[in-house]
Amino acid sequence: MSKPWRIIHLHIPVPPRRILYGTLGGLLLAWAVIMSLHKPVVPVTAPPSATLLSKELYLPVAKKPSNTELANPELNARVEKLLGTMSLEQKIGQLCQYSAGEATGPEGNKLDYKAMIAKGQVSSLFNVLGAKETNAYQRIAMEQSPQHIPLLFGFDVIHGQHTIFPVPLAMAASFDPGLVKWTARVAASEAADDGIRWVFSPMVDIARDARWGRITEGAGEDPFLGSVLARAYVQGYQGDSLSHADSVAACIKHFAAYGAPSGGREYNTVDMSELSLRQFYLPPYRAGVEAGAATVMSAFNPLNGVPATANPFTLTQILRNEWKFNGFVVSDWGAVRELINHGIARNGAVAARKALSAGVDMDMQSDLYRTRLADLVDSGQLPIATVDEAVRRVLRVKFALGLFDHPYVDEKKPPFALTPEKRQLARQAAEQTLVLLKNNIAVPDTVPVLPISKNVPAIALIGPLADSPIDMLGSWPAAGNPADAVTLRAALQQRFQNTKTKFFFAEGTDVMTDSDEGFAAAIAAAQKATVVVLALGEPAETMTGESTSRTRLDLPGNQEELLEAIVRLGKPTVLVLFNGHPLAFKWAADHVPAILEAWYPGIEAGPAVANVLFGDVNPSGKLPVSLPRAVGQEPLFYNQLPTGRPPGDIDLTHPPIGPNKYFSRYIDETNAPLFPFGFGLSYTQFTYSNLKLNQEQLSLAALQAAREKADGSAPGIHVSVEVKNTGPVAGTEVVQIYLRNTGGSVEEPVRELKGFERVTLAPGQAKEVEFRLGFEELSYYDAEMERVIEPTEYQVWVGGSSGATLGQQFVVTP
Ligand code: NOJ
Repeated sequence: MSKPWRIIHLHIPVPPRRILYGTLGGLLLAWAVIMSLHKPVVPVTAPPSATLLSKELYLPVAKKPSNTELANPELNARVEKLLGTMSLEQKIGQLCQYSAGEATGPEGNKLDYKAMIAKGQVSSLFNVLGAKETNAYQRIAMEQSPQHIPLLFGFDVIHGQHTIFPVPLAMAASFDPGLVKWTARVAASEAADDGIRWVFSPMVDIARDARWGRITEGAGEDPFLGSVLARAYVQGYQGDSLSHADSVAACIKHFAAYGAPSGGREYNTVDMSELSLRQFYLPPYRAGVEAGAATVMSAFNPLNGVPATANPFTLTQILRNEWKFNGFVVSDWGAVRELINHGIARNGAVAARKALSAGVDMDMQSDLYRTRLADLVDSGQLPIATVDEAVRRVLRVKFALGLFDHPYVDEKKPPFALTPEKRQLARQAAEQTLVLLKNNIAVPDTVPVLPISKNVPAIALIGPLADSPIDMLGSWPAAGNPADAVTLRAALQQRFQNTKTKFFFAEGTDVMTDSDEGFAAAIAAAQKATVVVLALGEPAETMTGESTSRTRLDLPGNQEELLEAIVRLGKPTVLVLFNGHPLAFKWAADHVPAILEAWYPGIEAGPAVANVLFGDVNPSGKLPVSLPRAVGQEPLFYNQLPTGRPPGDIDLTHPPIGPNKYFSRYIDETNAPLFPFGFGLSYTQFTYSNLKLNQEQLSLAALQAAREKADGSAPGIHVSVEVKNTGPVAGTEVVQIYLRNTGGSVEEPVRELKGFERVTLAPGQAKEVEFRLGFEELSYYDAEMERVIEPTEYQVWVGGSSGATLGQQFVVTP
């Protein structure tokens, strides 16, 4: 992921009309203008003599440290000065972190943190919240500990601190890095007010398996989208400088490949080729590191037999040597101790030594660094230089955050209160994350079910997710207050009060029950309605997020039965899904006329969904994950490698007959997803035409020659396409470009996202959208793990999903 060649598709959030002219719109616009000035810089390098372009020449191993603030000489002089005065015990103290609040992992022994802080044995606390609370601990560190080194407070701020935005998977559906950055900025300032200067976010693990509960915490299955958003989160959290009082250190997690556990089962083994690791899984971590993330969290999983928390290949070779990461690495909760369970350490001392030596600077919660490192150093089993280096990395971040100079937070600030601006941003975010999956005409009507007429005579809202504030927040709601969440029921009630529309509500069933006691009331409500809205899905806290892997991806409880009972009434029906796992809802896709994927939209869930249902907002979200037809298809993702027996056009809807058997296929289900990556409908239609390439041949020699120019020009293929809004209303389309490369030395995916752009068009309006495919987009890893371009043929497609059909070829000639 070279920075110089990146096409920057940063956007301000495409604002709903009402925001565009408001203060927020102005601010966002200003920010977008500033961002657009940050044009890519072209590196100057010598031409290669070989017939391919290699990483050594054009994607040089990063020479600069990942974060310039942490490399500041004055800051480092302060670090060295302090380090020179520290005893071994004090040094080790800087490598220890403990949860002093609600446990976010298996409970261990509760220790006397106050006494430990006074002795200088604690570097960081997490799960402690609030200016008063953090200041109280900080006072002990500053006043009683031998070196007066400030504590660094961390917290799982994943999609907001108090103002809870949509879950990260939903945010990814917006395909809008500007929006992501903006929400991260708000989260950072709220966290900082609570004394938190370190967030354990973003989670950038590529997730291709819908069974894995943590898929809700990341950006989904695509490395390109994941990388763009990883950067946006880091920029949002850290702002212009870590030293600003409202900036927090970001934490790229979980390094590495945590999102690929075998069988989709949480904390399970990960085994994959280095090629897959580099091609699909590492790019978002690298993007986050290159954006300057101050910290990285090592993962629980083993990677190819070596636990990620004691893995020198990922933690030292890749992270430090290749990417020049100069922040610090923290283990995940108790992961150092878990090395014993992994069978690579027979006791705590070995676990501590292996983790620290591999590159884990801070031990979260194991208490093994505190209790074992001194003996290891004293007995000569661990060089003091290894301890010193880890301490340096931690201290650098503390200095850069300005903690030594400003260790306390202002306790006099008024307590958090939601402002209208924050609600507005939360609503805009939620609106942009909703994905319209289906919108058919329900006979005898003549128009699609959505948007629902504002004068609808009667509407029934049914389902256990219709009025459950806590579920709207999703997993990791940080300091969010469920009372701030507006449910769909509340939003509809408000919308229809003082109108002629009759509004009926029935829960119908509970998320987990198998009792159909509530069905009769729900059916009665539906019968009285002109349009029925069903709000179904997963309970956020118990079924999504950490440690919630599922073997079924259906609607839990008897929601499916409720759905079928209501749909059988034959009313125009809309299914609104609130869920964290991508669900398999084949029956619904076949029988329910309209389906809206809402994920967990955050505090403005109800108003945002209502605005889309009634056409005040035209949906624009696109799927960041493939939705399966059946669990057995998992892991399911669009950017697969080719097979020698692709089924092509053969009929996969029936068991194979005769020669149709010998293809890469299932006997009982088609290969295709229920809805593909990148897919999402609008209330208008967009057509794509006039796909043009500035050239159909690009020679390696020309690429090489042009690279010599120092004027910023760079070779590449320019792809342009005309996108037109041919429907009746204004709308926003996420224009996507996909690439495939055949004829190289390794297999490349059948297609890969290489760029996207959100485009808002008035009815009848057309726009030419242009993408540039340069080295970054055209290159790939060969079998030697070199990033190369070889003389090969490329196929390019542009469209509104990964199923785009408008395409053209070009070749790179020798
Ligand atoms: C375990 C989770 O895996 C990680 O994401 C989180 O940041 C830590 N616990 C701290 O709560």
